[in-house]
Formats: sequence, structure tokens, C-alpha cells
Amino acid sequence: MAKIIRQDQINPHTYVLWLEEKSVPKPGQFYMVYPKDGAKLLGRPISVFDYHEGQLGLLYEVVGGGTEEFSKLEAGEDLRILGPYGRGFTPYPDKKVACIAGGVGLAPFIYLSRFLKGTTRVYFGTRDAQGFGDYLKDYPLDLKIQEGGYITEAVDFQAYDQFYTCGPRVMMNAVLDRCRQEDKDLELSLEERMGCGFGACLACSCQGKEGRKKVCLDGPVFAKEELDHA
Ligand SMILES: Cc1cc2nc3c(=O)[nH]c(=O)nc-3n(C[C@H](O)[C@H](O)[C@H](O)COP(=O)(O)OP(=O)(O)OC[C@H]3O[C@@H](n4cnc5c(N)ncnc54)[C@H](O)[C@@H]3O)c2cc1C
Ligand code: FES
Repeated sequence: MAKIIRQDQINPHTYVLWLEEKSVPKPGQFYMVYPKDGAKLLGRPISVFDYHEGQLGLLYEVVGGGTEEFSKLEAGEDLRILGPYGRGFTPYPDKKVACIAGGVGLAPFIYLSRFLKGTTRVYFGTRDAQGFGDYLKDYPLDLKIQEGGYITEAVDFQAYDQFYTCGPRVMMNAVLDRCRQEDKDLELSLEERMGCGFGACLACSCQGKEGRKKVCLDGPVFAKEELDHA
């Protein structure tokens, strides 16, 4: 059980839940967060948005019953979480890096930025940018926010050596294609639907270049060489 420290609301459908947590996660790892409602048995995988001095931040969008329940949680309540799980990003502090995020795919790049040198360039495409600029203003991010359209069109792929991406599959495949064309290094974080979160159920299986992969154990982060497509 983790004690809830506070809950911040970024905009009408996006929240950051802050919890007490002793384990120090790696950037790109995730937690399984369990609704209290017994009818929703499975945990919901949520990426590490930030971790600092025993405080774990999870940024999430309300899309269904589980995340709706999380949005009602209050400081002082206990919440069942398991993790940190999965293989995270490899931080390359000496490379010129850019992160390309769609929607809540933004979440893992905030914590990743703590492991990179200087200010991290983040291209963030979203349907609703409301509140993000203000909420993230104290992080060392050079944040380009775009509402609607294709965020990949805003990126100068030749200007960076290393890319990281997370978000809708169609966006990640566009990033993958460009990184292949320009011969750039890329790590992708897949957001497959999950059951257990720790390798026991096969719900998150995806096709890798060398056979089936479990996104929860082998990922969620994969290098571009490991995948044909996101
Ligand atoms: C490794 C990983 C990290 C994630 N990190 C975050 C995060 O940091 N913040 C965040 O808001 N969400 C994240 N997600 C997605 C999140 O787990 C789902 O949005 C959540 O489980 C939905 O639960 P629910 O009960 O509210 O919705 P449900 O009632 O279960 O589903 C509502 C809708 O959301 C869709 N949905 C459910 N799970 C996913 C998924 N994995 N990918 C895409 N669509 C989904 C369903 O198809 C349905 O349309 C992550 C998923 C994975 C696999
Ligand atoms: S979610 Fe169960 S094996 Fe990955």
C-alpha cells in the first residue's frame, strides 16, 4: 500500500497523483495501480512521471472506470500499487536528444529529463494543451506543445542524435520511419493493454523482430532495432 500525498489536477481530464514510495524507479518504468472497486480486478499500468525524495508522481488521463476512480482519491488514503516494473529508457546524457510525445505519452519524459544533461527538448502533441505549460514550468524542459495536427512535422530529425517516443501507435510508427530514414537512434515505449504487469499472463504480448515479446517484462521500452513497427 502506498500513502497518497496529494493529487494535482492539470486540466479537466488530466491529474498527477503523488504517492509515498521507497523504491527508486528507473525512467520509463511503470507501476500497476489497483482500483479499490473489487469489480475492476486488474491493475492499470501507469508510467513514472517523476520521482524525487521518496515521492512518486503518476500522470494519468481519465479514460474509463479505473482512472475515473483514481481521480477521486484524496491525500491520506492508501492505494495498492505494484512496481516499479519493466525495462525503462537508456539515458544518454552526452547525446543531443529529443523526446516526441503524444497525449499522456508525455508522462515518462519528465522523469527521464532528470537523467539527461541540460534542458531536454520535448515535442508534445495533444488534443488539449490546457494546464501543461503552467504545471511543468519548473522542470528543465524545452517544451514545444502543439494542439492537434502531426507533432512529427514540427521535429527537425537531423538536429538530434537520439530520439525517445511514447504515445499513439500511429505517431510512434511515423517517428520510427523517420529515424530509420535519417539513421538516428530511437527508443520507443509501447502502451499495450496489460493484465498482470509482471510476465504471468501474456495479455501484453507483441511481435518483436526476434519473436513474441512481453511488453511488461521485455519492455515497455524497446530500441528501434528490436521492432518492425510499434
Ligand atoms: C506501460 C504503460 C504505461 C502507461 N502509462 C500511462 C500513463 O502514464 N498515464 C496514463 O494516463 N495512461 C497510461 N497508460 C494507459 C493506461 O494504463 C490506461 O489508460 C488505463 O489502464 C485505462 O484504465 P481505465 O480503467 O480508466 O479504462 P478502461 O475502462 O480499461 O478503458 C477505457 C479506454 O481506454 C483504452 N485503453 C485502456 N488501456 C489502454 C492502453 N494500455 N493503451 C491505450 N488505450 C487503452 C481502452 O481501449 C478504452 O477505450 C499506460 C499503459 C501502459 C501499458
Ligand atoms: S501483462 Fe501479463 S504478461 Fe505482460
